[in-house]
Amino acid sequence: MAPEDFWAFSVKQVDTQYIQQVVKKSISNLPVGDILIQVQFSSLNYKDALSATGHYGVTKNYPHIPGIDAAGIVLEDTSGQFHPGDRVLVTGFDLGVNTWGGFAELIRVPAAWVLPLPAGLTPAESMILGTAGLTAALCVEALLQHAIQPASGAILVTGATGGVGSLAVALLAKLGFEVVAVTGKRDRHAYLTELGAARILSREQVNDTSDKPLLKGQWAGVVDTVGGNLLATAIRSTQYGGCVTACGLVGGVDLPLTVHPFILRGVRLIGIDSVNLPLAQRQQLWHRFATDWKLTNLEAIATTVTLTDLPVWIDRILKGQVVGRVLVHVAK
Ligand SMILES: NC(=O)c1ccc[n+]([C@@H]2O[C@H](COP(=O)([O-])OP(=O)(O)OC[C@H]3O[C@@H](n4cnc5c(N)ncnc54)[C@H](OP(=O)(O)O)[C@@H]3O)[C@@H](O)[C@H]2O)c1
Repeated sequence: MAPEDFWAFSVKQVDTQYIQQVVKKSISNLPVGDILIQVQFSSLNYKDALSATGHYGVTKNYPHIPGIDAAGIVLEDTSGQFHPGDRVLVTGFDLGVNTWGGFAELIRVPAAWVLPLPAGLTPAESMILGTAGLTAALCVEALLQHAIQPASGAILVTGATGGVGSLAVALLAKLGFEVVAVTGKRDRHAYLTELGAARILSREQVNDTSDKPLLKGQWAGVVDTVGGNLLATAIRSTQYGGCVTACGLVGGVDLPLTVHPFILRGVRLIGIDSVNLPLAQRQQLWHRFATDWKLTNLEAIATTVTLTDLPVWIDRILKGQVVGRVLVHVAK
């Protein structure tokens, strides 16, 4: 039986301020939807931090409960797709954006957003992966689909100690690629080596500010989580026939570039979106994470926090200071 009320990390707007509090909410405040889920774990993503600090491009209505990821147990399902007690996960779509999200003991969502937790992954593991893992997997899958193999050459990963970056480094290394990790954190080289990076470069080493349309072709593939001039430099440094995947914007939204990498080197630029990815495709990737792409020792890249710890971690992720993934243990 569902409880009458539940604890949630809520953000309210007071004039131009956004106040973050752990408060009790009534179940009657939840949106309409097919499936009521008791959330066990969520995770902190960069987008959650934007939502929690009043970024209108992410969240338009407050009070709001962020949390774009959730794993938990079905309490009620009016769609008939699941049974009470089933373990499920939800990432992306509108969860935590303008629909109350996973930083709460309860969520209610449409059945079209919900996947069964794959056998072979614990709820905690699924949330250490979460949206970051799904996004990293999409980048890697795109490289493979564009015929980039370990023998093709090195793969550059930017924002490498971040959530998407860490999981991309770990997955590429597992698949036998030579990974070159880019980080702004000088004290985290050992962490990246442990994840499987073969070489580590500073942001300055891969941020070219000259107006050369092409640079020495070094990368067979790129997983870029940063955007801006770092992405533009990576594209200009990609070798003939290489493939660049772009998923992030922490370093900027501009892309100062000419068409030369595309028309002289045949470089492919692939946009990555995990938010509205159709359910069937995400189910395939989650299955891979539970089987042939299973990453062991995921706990080693995660810091576990509670709802009350979130303000500190939101501030850190906005400053680019988080290493690995922040797992949110919601259930008390
Ligand atoms: N397209 C999609 O579907 C999708 C899905 C998930 C995430 N994303 C995007 O992917 C990006 C990464 O997300 P995340 O959750 O992994 O965030 P995150 O954990 O904060 O990782 C971002 C990392 O980027 C690096 N960084 C931060 N600020 C930077 C700057 N100004 N210049 C260069 N590098 C900087 C830092 O790593 P180092 O210190 O190691 O350099 C930081 O840890 C975000 O833009 C997010 O919105 C997109």
